[in-house]
Amino acid sequence: MKDQKTQIRALKLSDKSRLAKLANNENIWNNLRDYIPFPYHESDAEFFIKQTKTQDPQQSFGIIYKDEFCGVISLIIQNDIYHKSAEIGYWIGEPFWGHGIATKAVKLITEYGFEKLNLIRIYAGVFQHNIASMKTLEKNGYRKEGIFKKAIIKKGSILDEHRYFIINKNQE
Ligand SMILES: CC(C)(COP(=O)(O)OP(=O)(O)OC[C@H]1O[C@@H](n2cnc3c(N)ncnc32)[C@H](O)[C@@H]1OP(=O)(O)O)[C@@H](O)C(=O)NCCC(=O)NCCS
Repeated sequence: MKDQKTQIRALKLSDKSRLAKLANNENIWNNLRDYIPFPYHESDAEFFIKQTKTQDPQQSFGIIYKDEFCGVISLIIQNDIYHKSAEIGYWIGEPFWGHGIATKAVKLITEYGFEKLNLIRIYAGVFQHNIASMKTLEKNGYRKEGIFKKAIIKKGSILDEHRYFIINKNQE
């Protein structure tokens, strides 16, 4: 899936070193769930990439900017009564911040989620300080639906979670 300079594609084992190098950054991890390792080793990248290869349908993609691997974006399809909903998650390697890459990648995976996976709803949970991520979502038509007060504990700090959502236009 391409949008000029930015594309998303299935992860390859050859992305392992670059993925690990970019993900091994506390400035990224500070905005992510704790199940994602930090420090982030090549073995973590290998485990993750292999796990994405078992996904059916594909839910996680590498983000490529001007032919360089620069981040990861995923739709985590929910279970049970929520099976037409997915949570979106993403990160961009710090050297690539501020080029509009996350904005394009969110656009591409949102289209994929609605057009190919037939999802009804995609949502995100953003830490209270993460203005860049909130803007990324808002620029793609996601709307804030509420703030889960003091829902998050990250590195010992209690944080609010800002919840964003978008609905598939065919289902409105
Ligand atoms: C959040 C993140 C994905 C943004 O990636 P990016 O490619 O730099 O984002 P974009 O360039 O598309 O910018 C999106 C918007 O955020 C703004 N922005 C970027 N950094 C910002 C900052 N530090 N403070 C405020 N706004 C910021 C941009 O200016 C842009 O808005 P604009 O077009 O109105 O100017 C990236 O910083 C990141 O990976 N952070 C760590 C992991 C993370 O937060 N993941 C999301 C978890 S919900």
